[in-house]
Formats: sequence, structure tokens, C-alpha cells
Amino acid sequence: MVDTDEFIEEATEEIAAEVGDANAIIALSGGVDSSVAAALAYRAIGDQLTPVYVDTGLMRKGETEQIRETFAFMDSLRIVDAKDRFLDALSGVTDPEEKRHVIGEGFIREFERAAKETDADYLVQGTIYPDRIESEGNIKSHHNVGGLPEVIDFEGIVEPVRDLYKDEVREVARALDLEEVVSERMPFPGPGLAVRIIGEVTEEKLEVARESCHVVEEEVAEHDPWQAFAAVIGKATGVKGDNRVHGWVVSVRSVESRDGMTARAQDLPWETLQRIQSRITGENDNVARVVYDVTHKPPATIEYE
Ligand code: XMP
Repeated sequence: MVDTDEFIEEATEEIAAEVGDANAIIALSGGVDSSVAAALAYRAIGDQLTPVYVDTGLMRKGETEQIRETFAFMDSLRIVDAKDRFLDALSGVTDPEEKRHVIGEGFIREFERAAKETDADYLVQGTIYPDRIESEGNIKSHHNVGGLPEVIDFEGIVEPVRDLYKDEVREVARALDLEEVVSERMPFPGPGLAVRIIGEVTEEKLEVARESCHVVEEEVAEHDPWQAFAAVIGKATGVKGDNRVHGWVVSVRSVESRDGMTARAQDLPWETLQRIQSRITGENDNVARVVYDVTHKPPATIEYE
């Protein structure tokens, strides 16, 4: 565990010393890691920092509005509406790594533009310790790490939370008075709902994933999971009214974990699972079936792609 006050003071001093009079940008995702990194950098250098939030269209229900409210204290916050660009680029892409690549490239283009426009010499990143380990082990192309610095010639990269685990970042968030929606927010992957959709990302699947994730988060909250969500994993036959339909299969996932590197599927009560099933199929005409994923990590990953 970290001494949060000491950590905040030291991190703020380090950022201020490193960036000096230059400008910096940070990709703000709304996740606790980048939020804490942004808040620390904003403390250190104020409006020399431009936090950039890209609305990829792959975000959860109400997420962009939430970001706008939570970070209203940063005058330099930029919210970029890039939905159409991302969905166009993802059209026809079915391979999981290719999807991650397309999204990573999309982010790079958006930030490249923002960095040029704000004359930013420094990049602040919310990379945490497990991100570095997984990237070094090449478990998958983690989109928070790498990419940007290879394309834009920044004078320096600042990673204020690089040695912290997720629970430590949350402690720092609380100490920084970042709203509970941030400090207690469950992790959400950078590529967003795209990794909760198997195969091509379409508007229809996105809508199902977004609404289903919302239901799962609401219904599972009282069981305090580390992460809980829903994924669209395919199609199957079902019966709606008097008709057989070929609808989406939604998989519900709720896991306990310390840092995401390993995880255990949660032993949820049957009533909770049934309520989730009933709400998801009831609220989405095109969902035929809801299943619960009982696989731990390993052998599964937490996300689906
Ligand atoms: P997996 O699916 O690899 O996920 O078991 C482990 C944890 O990392 C999150 N995750 C990501 N977070 N960028 C992120 O910021 C990513 O590309 C990414 N991929 C997975 C996932 O939600 C889980 O908490």
C-alpha cells in the first residue's frame, strides 16, 4: 500500500519538474488510471495540460456525459466526437488483434491531431504496473502502452502511476477527491465495447452490448465484483411471442480479482442471474439467449477479444 499524501506530493513535484514550461497532453479514458494521472498532472502544470477524451462510440451508456461532468474542473478538457471515424474503420474487421490494431491506430490519429494543435511536447500516460508486465510478456497488444510515442516525437513521456497496482491507484483517486464514479469505477478496457463483441462491430451489436452491460452493472453492484459486464458472443435460436427468432447470445461475466492478471468467476445467486436474463431479453427484442460465463482467468481472459 502507498502513503497517498506522500505519493501525490512527490508525483506532482516530479511532473512539474519534468514538464517545466512546456505543454502536455493526456488521453483521458474515464478509467481510474488515466483519471488519476490527469488529475496529478493538472495539479502540477494546470492548463499546460490538455486532457483529451475521444468518444469512439465504443463507450458505455452515459459515459461521455459523465466524463464531461466529472472533469468540468479542468478548463482545458477536450471532448472529441470520433464515433463515425471509428465505426467506419471497424467496418468489416473481424479478427480480434486487427480490431485492437484499428482502434489503436484511430486513437493515435486523434491524439496526433490534438498534440499538434496544442503544441504538446510531453505525453502523460496512465500506465500502471500490470499493464507493463502484460505488455512485456506480449500477452496482447495493450492499447494503453506504446503506439503514440512511436508516431509523435514527444520530448518526454510522463507516467506518474507506473509503479502502482489498481487498488493503489484507487486509493490515490480517493485521496485526490476524484468523484466516487471514478475512484470506484470498475476497469473498462481502452478498446471499449469492441472487445465485448465477437466478430465485426456493428451499430446493432454495440447497442445490445451497451444496454446489456448497463443491466449487468446495475444488478451485480451489490455483490461488489471487481469487474462485471456483458458481451455479444454470437447468434442462436429463441422464441419471442409465437415466433422463432434468430437473436443475439449475450454472455454475462462477473469476476473477482486484485489486478486483472488472474480472476475468478463470481458465484452469483441464481435470482440475480435470472433477473439479469429477464431484463436483458425483455429490454432487447433481438436477444434470444443469456448465458453466464463460469470460466476463471486463466484459462480464459476477462474480456472476450
Ligand atoms: P483480459 O481480458 O486480458 O483483461 O483478461 C485484463 C484486464 O485489462 C482490461 N483490458 C484492457 N484495459 N486496454 C485497457 O485499458 C486494453 O486494451 C485492455 N484489454 C483488456 C480488462 O478489462 C481487464 O480488466
